[in-house]
Amino acid sequence: MAGKVKWVTDIEKSVLINNFEKRGWIQVSENEDWNFYWMSVQTIRNVFSVETGYRLSDDQIVNHFPNHYELTRKDLMVKNIKRYRKELEKEGSPLAEKDENGKYLYLDFVPVTFMLPADYNLFVEEFRKNPSSTWIMKPCGKAQGKGIFLINKLSQIKKWSRDSKTSTFVSQSSKEAYVISLYINNPLLIGGKKFDLRLYVLVSTYRPLRCYMYKLGFCRFCTVKYTPSTSELDNMFVHLTNVAIQKHGDDYNHIHGGKWTVSNLRLYLESTRGKEVTSKLFDEIHWIIVQSLKAVAPVMNNDKHCFECYGYDIIIDDKLKPWLIEVNASPSLTSSTANDRILKYNLINDTLNIAVPNGEIPDCKWNKSPPKEALGNYEVLYDEEMAQSEMPDRDLRSRSGQPMGFKGNRARDSGKSGALTWK
Ligand SMILES: Nc1ncnc2c1ncn2[C@@H]1O[C@H](COP(=O)(O)OP(=O)(O)O)[C@@H](O)[C@H]1O
Ligand SMILES: [Mg+2]
Repeated sequence: MAGKVKWVTDIEKSVLINNFEKRGWIQVSENEDWNFYWMSVQTIRNVFSVETGYRLSDDQIVNHFPNHYELTRKDLMVKNIKRYRKELEKEGSPLAEKDENGKYLYLDFVPVTFMLPADYNLFVEEFRKNPSSTWIMKPCGKAQGKGIFLINKLSQIKKWSRDSKTSTFVSQSSKEAYVISLYINNPLLIGGKKFDLRLYVLVSTYRPLRCYMYKLGFCRFCTVKYTPSTSELDNMFVHLTNVAIQKHGDDYNHIHGGKWTVSNLRLYLESTRGKEVTSKLFDEIHWIIVQSLKAVAPVMNNDKHCFECYGYDIIIDDKLKPWLIEVNASPSLTSSTANDRILKYNLINDTLNIAVPNGEIPDCKWNKSPPKEALGNYEVLYDEEMAQSEMPDRDLRSRSGQPMGFKGNRARDSGKSGALTWK
């Protein structure tokens, strides 16, 4: 007899709890038998750790992959993408094509990044090529803009140099690893302000890769007008789009929370830049997300008990090129406005509908292909099996040197305007 799903969470968020309760699921403690555990990234570490690890049974589902950090830690994401690019290059894939300066034509979608202190010397070499550039320092293990600062002089990061006199400091603080990335200093501005995109992507399996894009992403705006001027380098209200930062600004608006829906952005871009370039931009955004997932798919522990809803941070520059900034394993479920609350409630609702079919006690051995009606506001972003079996044409085209997701050709080919015609 089908019983009720027993749930646990260590994240006290009403958008979660309301969703569980709406389904008539029963709350239990983590020491009892549970079927569904929405957990923090700290807890998932214990669940799959060698010493304390549980043995999950077929009727247990969790909301993270064991080694999600391969994608969601800033340094590892870049490392995996670099490795993926090299592999494609070795295979002779057309995706790995480079221009005359040796820059990837299509795979150049993360800002140039180095690990500190490990890659300090490589960084210095790169910095000296363009000494007027601005770089952004980010602690690998933090979130919400914490610990981030911008630099434009080598002296500002001397203490991360490997061979500096303060090397004791470096070894002591080596747990505090940083990435340093080229700062995108020409972001697309709206009303003079910088913003980034927060997009939600659900992965139900990595091998085969199957992922879904949430249609209701949003833009997060800075509260202070943007300037690339170095005199404002310390002003985080100009440079960091995190709500956790901006909400402390004098000009933070509590009604709209500095947020715009992605569909609003789309309309704005269509009217100011034209439909074709807008559609190409969104195609490219979807394409880089799929590439980032393909980059980590081979190293992911594709545990069948797991799914994950990622929060992607994307910046669009003034040439309408999207840049992948980072991927979050636990995107904020805090609601900053009334609309935010609705959005996040629906996000969890739609996520659960895919992860726990019919709200019934899960069987992690199911084939993880929900019917279209169950997707809610999600749409299939990429389905590896479908790509291989149903659309051989797609493979042919990519082999013939036409990387998918570029030149705005997909939508036209299929006669649809959506960005998702290439799965
Ligand atoms: N390379 C970059 N160029 C421009 N802005 C950036 C860059 N990296 C980060 N930012 C800005 O800083 C914010 C925080 O960086 P992020 O990598 O997302 O770290 P966190 O985990 O603290 O959110 C981003 O949302 C974006 O606004
Ligand atoms: Mg972020």
